[in-house]
Amino acid sequence: MGSYSMPKYAVPLSALGTFIGGLYLLKDYMGGAKYTGEERLAGRTVVITGANTGIGKEVARDLARRGGRVIMACRDLDKCERARAEIVVETANRNIKCQLLDLASIGSIKAFAKAVNQNEKRLDILINNAGIMRCPKLLTEDGFEMQLGVNHLGHFLLTHLLLDKLKASAPSRIINVSSLAHSRGRINFEDLNSATTYNPAAAYEQSKLANVLFTLELAKRLKDTGVTCNAVNPGLVKTEIGRHLSVTKSYISSFLLFPFLWLMLKTPRQGAQTTLYAALDPNLAKVTGKYLSDCEEQALSEKVLDEAVVKRLWAISEKWTRIT
Ligand SMILES: NC(=O)c1ccc[n+]([C@@H]2O[C@H](COP(=O)([O-])OP(=O)(O)OC[C@H]3O[C@@H](n4cnc5c(N)ncnc54)[C@H](OP(=O)(O)O)[C@@H]3O)[C@@H](O)[C@H]2O)c1
Repeated sequence: MGSYSMPKYAVPLSALGTFIGGLYLLKDYMGGAKYTGEERLAGRTVVITGANTGIGKEVARDLARRGGRVIMACRDLDKCERARAEIVVETANRNIKCQLLDLASIGSIKAFAKAVNQNEKRLDILINNAGIMRCPKLLTEDGFEMQLGVNHLGHFLLTHLLLDKLKASAPSRIINVSSLAHSRGRINFEDLNSATTYNPAAAYEQSKLANVLFTLELAKRLKDTGVTCNAVNPGLVKTEIGRHLSVTKSYISSFLLFPFLWLMLKTPRQGAQTTLYAALDPNLAKVTGKYLSDCEEQALSEKVLDEAVVKRLWAISEKWTRIT
């Protein structure tokens, strides 16, 4: 009987295979919790802002797969149409619509809301997802610092203008996509609009904290209406949100950071899971005013729960967006 000898490269190859397999398992683990509910959305209507890319596009794709009418509210209709076409082909749901919404313009927000209120029979889920992060100092059409204007004030106004439709369609849900960055945020009432000094990171953190504070107060005001409102942290997700960061513009740092980022960052699909959980989970039917992360509720720090700050921000937001 001949003796069996292992090929020379068998051990290193199997070690490499185990290492790569382990890496993918770790990557999957870092991707966080998955929403596994199988709810269908036939006959229900969803508006999602910033749905042409990133997390918003993945949420739209999933909701389309469930048979819902999905209104993709985007500022660039060409990009929106490309994303819509992809989603329609993939899900065979033709009930997907692109509608112009520029959150950096009160006029555009009003026109969008008017069209939804006039043309849509119902609105079951509003997902305030669009966002801009750490951009250079820019102003919206109405003179708001861009991150505060788009991330907070734009969604604040949009939500108010769609509230009657949401109430009439109750039970309905509002989801505000915030971030862990809210916990580093401070509402700088001395210079809310960054008129004197502008720090791109602080302005983003302030806007994401504003998302959470808006959620808390809106949930209280909507008590007993059948409309819930929760905030979501999607986690760290590889999307276009970093487009203004110098690190993403440099090929060298992108190359050096690639292994770390590949492992640490969620895919957009993974980043969509907590938003889907907030929008769909039947166990959340009556849950409101909460902060959700990795498909579960997370406690907010005392700092965030300062009632005086919540009320003051609300009053200023109403005034600046001219809500009567
Ligand atoms: N990615 C992360 O790690 C992470 C972490 C925590 C929280 N978040 C939050 O998740 C949300 C989605 O971000 P993402 O990561 O998916 O980023 P993204 O890929 O950059 O997508 C952002 C979306 O917002 C839209 N948008 C920006 N300005 C707008 C405006 N003025 N009017 C209407 N739409 C506008 C963008 O449209 P254009 O394509 O036309 O620019 C895009 O569709 C944001 O609220 C973000 O703060 C993300």
